[in-house]
Amino acid sequence: MCGIMAYIGGRDTVEVLLEGLRRLEYRGYDSAGVAVSVDGKIELVRSKGKIANLAALLEGNKPEGRSGIAHTRWATHGPPSTKNAHPHPDCEGHLAVVHNGIIENYLELREQLEAEGHTFRSETDTETLAHLFEKYYDGDLEKAVRRGLKEVKGSYAVVAMSDREPGLLVAARQYSPLIVGLGEKKGENFVASDPSAIIAYTRQAYLIDNGEMVMLRADGVQVKTLSGKPVKKPVFHIEWDAEMAEKGGHKHFMIKEIFEQPHALRQTIGDRIVGREMALKLEGLGLSDGYLRRVKKIAVIACGTASYAGMAGQYAIEKVCGVPVIVDVASELQHRECVFDKNTLGIAISQSGETADTLQAMRMAHRQGAKLLAITNAIGSSVARESDGLLYIHAGPEIGVASTKAYTSQILAMLLFCVHLGRVREAVTPRVARRLLRGIKQLPDLAERTLEQADHIKKLAKKHQHIMRYLYLGRGAHYCSAMEGALKIKEIAYLDAEGYAAGEMKHGPLALVTEEVAVLSAVVEGPQYEKALGNLQEIRARGGKVIAVANENDEEIAKYADDVIPIPKTEEVLSPVLAGIPMQLYAYYVADLWNREIDQPRNLAKSVTVE
Ligand code: F6R
Repeated sequence: MCGIMAYIGGRDTVEVLLEGLRRLEYRGYDSAGVAVSVDGKIELVRSKGKIANLAALLEGNKPEGRSGIAHTRWATHGPPSTKNAHPHPDCEGHLAVVHNGIIENYLELREQLEAEGHTFRSETDTETLAHLFEKYYDGDLEKAVRRGLKEVKGSYAVVAMSDREPGLLVAARQYSPLIVGLGEKKGENFVASDPSAIIAYTRQAYLIDNGEMVMLRADGVQVKTLSGKPVKKPVFHIEWDAEMAEKGGHKHFMIKEIFEQPHALRQTIGDRIVGREMALKLEGLGLSDGYLRRVKKIAVIACGTASYAGMAGQYAIEKVCGVPVIVDVASELQHRECVFDKNTLGIAISQSGETADTLQAMRMAHRQGAKLLAITNAIGSSVARESDGLLYIHAGPEIGVASTKAYTSQILAMLLFCVHLGRVREAVTPRVARRLLRGIKQLPDLAERTLEQADHIKKLAKKHQHIMRYLYLGRGAHYCSAMEGALKIKEIAYLDAEGYAAGEMKHGPLALVTEEVAVLSAVVEGPQYEKALGNLQEIRARGGKVIAVANENDEEIAKYADDVIPIPKTEEVLSPVLAGIPMQLYAYYVADLWNREIDQPRNLAKSVTVE
């Protein structure tokens, strides 16, 4: 959500900034801008819309300097417009700032600064920072930023520059991600909100923590606390390479990432299942067997797609381990009383590791005495760092705003944890545990087989192109598939879609079914199979079209559905991993027929770092 890129060094500064912004565009794309230090002055170029608009403005009119800051915005305060785009200057244009996060007391600060004679030009909370730093600037940017931030409440990753100190950029972090890229070439350094912005230049980094400031110069980087104490940071090696974040010949990142799922699932399994006895080596889990035996309840902490991965885990853990699991979206969970205590394990699931609601709910869980396990894709992210234990999914960079490979890898990580928990608590026999793990090991190959349905699914999308309304139904293990399928088609095709527990149909939603409605449903073999067939009958009796995702050996299903998408058979608790794939493909092909901006759907951004 919003992206920051800043550079100091000998390259073409605007090109480096634009390249960084392009890689961050998935985080926000309603306006963008750069500020470059040129001969003792700050030159500012900003534009509404995507980075391409900004690049067109800069074409033939490129400020040339050796340091600059840049930003791509996802509007929170003030609508998308050039004047609300970052970087924001102070009154005289001597300073400029870019900022991610939310300044909660900005109205109060703004009133005070206006009374002191500062003139504001935008409706953003960020501009307050420019004027605050201006107020305290007396030739020392580090001091001005430190002093100004003392008055700020809220969250920020901020980078500031001054025309009087062109060889310096000052950055600070409080609850919004910030990373320093240490130049591999001598004489350059980078700051960004996200590693993907800098991996084309360097993979050596400092991960900046809350309450830290960075003084970035071409020949060195100093990190201090906000109160000015020097901090020695370990160098962090970013494993992703630049190519992993390219489209690699695919039309969209989303479809590339859908097809990467067999690989991503293999990476999630890694070498975690060991030997003939199939011991589980969950390095970093950080939760003792004694603690796991004492756990009385699990609460999944997540948003959106990640929460649906949590629902798949809920079904598996309750069934296999007999431990109650609650799943509620983090924005609600953080305000619910009595959910957490010392016998409750919070499992935070987050692709980006920076989702503000998830982090707030995690902090609340910690305050109430719970321990936290993080399931995340983002190494060194806030979610990872604020947890007691960790299971990285290692799915590789996910750039498409709609989550795909992270979803299936998150479910798989939950399944690995589920088997571990079942074993530790002796809730499963060694034989059943091995059977589940054998099933888990087969999932990457079965995902590959599921992807062979892509052409068939593309044809179905075409056949049903006129449908504007969808219902997604699921039961038991596949309630999550219904919710996730509906979310995917809503967010990328902008079609009306609702996900429901199939048993709820009679309690209201059945009234929506007409000939103009299509129903997608995952109906796999398991205890609720017959009931799920019954639901399909109810739909067809009322003229609705049924597309069923069903096991490939299911001979009954054709009688209950207009179209069938076959998926390989696996254990019921494992099957959400496979059922998720046709849901993604169907949404993708429908959205593509509608010519939607699939990787960057309107109003959305990857990684929601504000509440
Ligand atoms: C939907 C989607 C979102 C995210 C949600 C949580 O396709 O991607 O619903 O799942 O914003 O994000 P993370 O996993 O980064 O915490």
